[in-house]
Amino acid sequence: MPGTEPSIGPPSTPTPARAAPTVSPDPVEMPLFDRAARSLDDPSSLWVVVDKTRPLNPIDYAPTDLVDVPVPHVWSPQLRREASEATVALFAAFTAETGLALQSQSSYRSHDTQVDVYNRDVADNGQAFADTSTARPGTSEHQTGLAIDISALPGNCSLDACFGGTPQGQWLAGNAWRFGFLLRYPADKVAITGYGYEPWHFRYIGPELATEMHDTGTATLEEFFGLPAAPGYN
Ligand code: DAL
Ligand code: ZN
Repeated sequence: MPGTEPSIGPPSTPTPARAAPTVSPDPVEMPLFDRAARSLDDPSSLWVVVDKTRPLNPIDYAPTDLVDVPVPHVWSPQLRREASEATVALFAAFTAETGLALQSQSSYRSHDTQVDVYNRDVADNGQAFADTSTARPGTSEHQTGLAIDISALPGNCSLDACFGGTPQGQWLAGNAWRFGFLLRYPADKVAITGYGYEPWHFRYIGPELATEMHDTGTATLEEFFGLPAAPGYN
C-alpha cells in the first residue's frame, strides 16, 4: 500500500550530520581516442591501412609472427599471433552464444599467393570484375596476416553476398568488433573501399580501435582516419 511500507531490518541509528558540499566536482572528462597512436603506413602496425591507393611497403612484405590458427578451416589458416588469438576467442564466443559453428576459409596470403588468386580471378571473370573482388598483389589485407575470410560450418553461402543473411554472417556483422575485428567491405561503402560487399572478410585492428569505430558508427578505416576514398588504382 502506498506510503505504508513495512519497516524491515535493524532499528535505524542516527546518521551524523554532514555539511553539504559547496563546490560541485569537476565533470569527468573522457580521454579522447588518440588516432595517431599507431602507424597507418607501417605494414606491421595493427592499424595499417591497405587499399587500392595504399599498397604495402615493401610490396612483398611478410609478417614475422605468423602462427597456425587452431580453428576449423577449408585451407590451413595462418595469422599474426594476436589476430590468431582473437580469432580463436571469436569462434568460441560465436559457438557459445549461438550453438552454431564457423570455419576459416582463407587467412594469411603471401604476395606470391595473392598473384595466383588475382590471376585466377582475372582468368575466370575478366579484369574489370576481378578488380572489384580481389586485390592486386601488394594491396591485399590478407598479406598483412591480419585478415580472415570466415564461412559457416557446414558451408552455406561461402564467399558469397548471401553469407550476410546467414546466422553466422549476421552475428559476425554485429559482434566481430568485440574481438577487435572490422567488417572491412560493407555493402554501402563500395565507393570508398573499391570492393563489392564481402560479409565474410574481417580485418583485425585490435579491440581499442574496433570499439571506437563501433561506438562512433564509423564503417571504414578511410573514413575514420580521414584518408582518401580508394575506389580504383592510381
Ligand atoms: N578480396 C579482398 C579484397 C582481397 O583480395 O584482399
Ligand atoms: Zn578476404
